[in-house]
Amino acid sequence: MGKNTLKLKVADRIEEPGNILRLRLVEASGASLPAFEAGAHLDLHLKDGTTDLWRQYSLCSDPATSNAYEIGVLLDPKSRGGSIAVHRLAQVGSTFEVEGPRNHFPLEEKAEVSVLLGGGIGITPMLAMAQRLHALNRNFVLHYCTRSDSVTAFKDLIQTAPWADKVVFHFDDQAAEQRLDLVRDLPKPSPGTHLYVCGPQGFMDWVIDTAEGSGHAKANVHREYFSADVDQSGGGFEVVAKRSGVTVRVEAGNTIAKALAAAGVKIEVKCEEGVCGTCVTDVLEGIPDHRDKFLTDEEREECTMICACCSRAATSTLVLDV
Ligand code: FES
Repeated sequence: MGKNTLKLKVADRIEEPGNILRLRLVEASGASLPAFEAGAHLDLHLKDGTTDLWRQYSLCSDPATSNAYEIGVLLDPKSRGGSIAVHRLAQVGSTFEVEGPRNHFPLEEKAEVSVLLGGGIGITPMLAMAQRLHALNRNFVLHYCTRSDSVTAFKDLIQTAPWADKVVFHFDDQAAEQRLDLVRDLPKPSPGTHLYVCGPQGFMDWVIDTAEGSGHAKANVHREYFSADVDQSGGGFEVVAKRSGVTVRVEAGNTIAKALAAAGVKIEVKCEEGVCGTCVTDVLEGIPDHRDKFLTDEEREECTMICACCSRAATSTLVLDV
């Protein structure tokens, strides 16, 4: 196992409402676990005879706890196989190779006001954030949106938490005044107000567009995508792997990472949909056509990095530092 790799054992498996599996993971050797920050995730290696995938899951447990990590995994039959594999493989006592914790969704812990917005399974990083903000005695509110009360996971945890009064539940099947109303529920923009959003893409797009449209600074609207619909449209282009001395053509429908792998140049990939950042590669020449959700706007504009699992080229050739 490499540096930053853990072997974790499933200590507990709890079926939450809404087809969500809550897993309690401990070090297989019994050792204590590396500390993590609210917003961090684990990369789980899902491997058996039929599956060999890496998938990212946010930590939902209290960052102050060091003897176990908790994650929540939604069973999504429409996914590319990761969630189905977790639900199948994660039996009590089974072990996983895990990388992390890594944090691409950090809290601004000194914010005057923090507004956490979780849609469905997007509640998981918000739970860690709520526990951290409570421990810091900060001013926060957590809006938790689900389709219905009956499919709302982690309700017991939330309702018995010392910060339960900071949580507002919103159910899609209830009266309009009970649903999330961003005009009513978002505070006025201010430099000290930070918003955090995680959930299905439609939910995230709605919250982000509304918040930024009403004046919240982009830098204060923090987001974590679990998955994303990647725009795969566009024609072919050439990629030069400079250090390897290899040139490949990336045809329509193929990706840079796959075209290079076929020519023997390996770029590590995990999510394959532009959300985890594993495949970020330096660009030496040419202009990327970014299709990921990982790089910041500033990083996109600099044109010095590309997510090789999904992004394409805006110029006929890209020269990469691989
Ligand atoms: S592999 Fe996750 S962003 Fe490319």
